[in-house]
Amino acid sequence: MYIYILLLLICKVSNAASVEERGFWDLLGSLLNYSNSALVPEDANLSITELGKKYGYRVEQHTVTTEDGYILNFHRIPTRSRKVRPVVFLMHGLLDSSDTWLLLGPNKALAYLLADLEFDVWLGNSRGNKHCQNHTSLYNTDSDFWHFSWEEIAVHDLPAMIDYILQVTGMQNLYYVGHSQGTTTGYVLCAMKPEYNSKIKMMFSLAPEAWMGHIRSPLVKIFSPAHSVLAYLLSDFSADYAGVDFFNKISTFVCTIVPARCDNVLFALSGYETKINETFLAVILGHSPSGSSTFQFAHYGQLVESHRFCRYDFGRQGNLAAYNQSVPPDYDVSLVTTPVVIFYSAKDLLSDPKDVNILIKNLNNVRETIFLEDFTHLDYVYAQDAAHVIYNKIIRRIISDEEN
Ligand SMILES: *[C@@H]1O[C@H](CO)[C@@H](O)[C@H](O)[C@H]1NC(C)=O
Ligand SMILES: *[C@@H]1O[C@H](CO)[C@@H](O)[C@H](O)[C@H]1NC(C)=O
Ligand SMILES: *[C@@H]1O[C@H](CO)[C@@H](O)[C@H](O)[C@H]1NC(C)=O
Ligand SMILES: *[C@@H]1O[C@H](CO)[C@@H](O)[C@H](O)[C@H]1NC(C)=O
Ligand SMILES: *[C@@H]1O[C@H](CO)[C@@H](O)[C@H](O)[C@H]1NC(C)=O
Repeated sequence: MYIYILLLLICKVSNAASVEERGFWDLLGSLLNYSNSALVPEDANLSITELGKKYGYRVEQHTVTTEDGYILNFHRIPTRSRKVRPVVFLMHGLLDSSDTWLLLGPNKALAYLLADLEFDVWLGNSRGNKHCQNHTSLYNTDSDFWHFSWEEIAVHDLPAMIDYILQVTGMQNLYYVGHSQGTTTGYVLCAMKPEYNSKIKMMFSLAPEAWMGHIRSPLVKIFSPAHSVLAYLLSDFSADYAGVDFFNKISTFVCTIVPARCDNVLFALSGYETKINETFLAVILGHSPSGSSTFQFAHYGQLVESHRFCRYDFGRQGNLAAYNQSVPPDYDVSLVTTPVVIFYSAKDLLSDPKDVNILIKNLNNVRETIFLEDFTHLDYVYAQDAAHVIYNKIIRRIISDEEN
């Protein structure tokens, strides 16, 4: 509780744009109202498989173990076609899970739209989220379980899932759609394990995160090393709650005061989500935030501070031990040779166009960039008009790519 209030206060005193700030407090107010209304929609309560079933889709669960022992449960909406169909793999963002891609419901959510067109749809999950709390030798209450950033997701989780999918389907490659952290992990994978470029036929990046020096989100800024908040959390907090994921802890606190199973951290991170209404908000909050390691935030915080896209900074001594150099090496995104299609937006506080332009300059094979005026960071997966503005473009491109 105290930590949460601390975060809110820091958010408040940091120079948040007044409109966003007002939006945030309104949202908190409407949530408090909401929790009394007992109108929480059913979709907020259903698991991903139950959601699929309700809307007439079969959602399968698959399990794969990474080379470093994490047991990942992830999902598939198998094609109804008898023919072999292209695979589309969707990778969620920070604090999120495979659920994200279904929440908008039929005719709106990307996973359903792809399934309607008989694509073979796979929904990835990263270590530490609610579907991936198991390990072959660690418990999720061990602090060692949580010692990973998104680089580990990129170089261990993605290869495990992608190789499994290609083996099960007999395909040579797949289409990769990433949102937010799902874009980061895509670039890191192709840069550090370039052999995966040929396994990814095309990469769609929604709200890309790589260079972050121009980020405008007040709450993310406080995670940068210039503020000692994160260092404090990493030390004291993990000492008190060894290994227990910080953000899941926060949601527990918040749910004690706001009993609609809710959490505003997600929204504070992203700015006010104008396209998300109250009813749908309750559905979203029934499914996220999902677990993430504090190191994922710390790593992003370092990028905010360093204006670089580089590996985790362990400090001079740690870097010498890990990388044989005193500063962490850059990710070489010029090694991403698979074609990349980028969607970014003027209103996205977490993925600033200035930073995305740096990324675009450094990538070697950008096929198309689509600039949106009014999408905020979570609108890519939660806006009612995402199908119209974004998903149809992805689908059209996949179809034309298949025809060539
Ligand atoms: C909460 O409910 C009260 C009373 O119904 C209403 O006056 C207020 O505007 C609501 N607040 C929000 C943010 O919806
Ligand atoms: C959601 O789940 C909670 C606890 O399992 C239950 O009390 C509540 O009635 C459920 N609500 C709906 C709309 O299914
Ligand atoms: C973790 O593994 C145990 C034992 O294998 C199993 O009972 C449990 O359901 C698993 N949990 C998850 C979330 O997969
Ligand atoms: C809120 O969003 C839901 C979709 O999740 C939609 O069905 C509903 O019509 C929306 N309500 C309003 C008032 O726009
Ligand atoms: C570490 O870097 C130094 C200087 O760049 C080099 O001479 C040495 O071989 C490197 N050691 C290892 C183990 O890579």
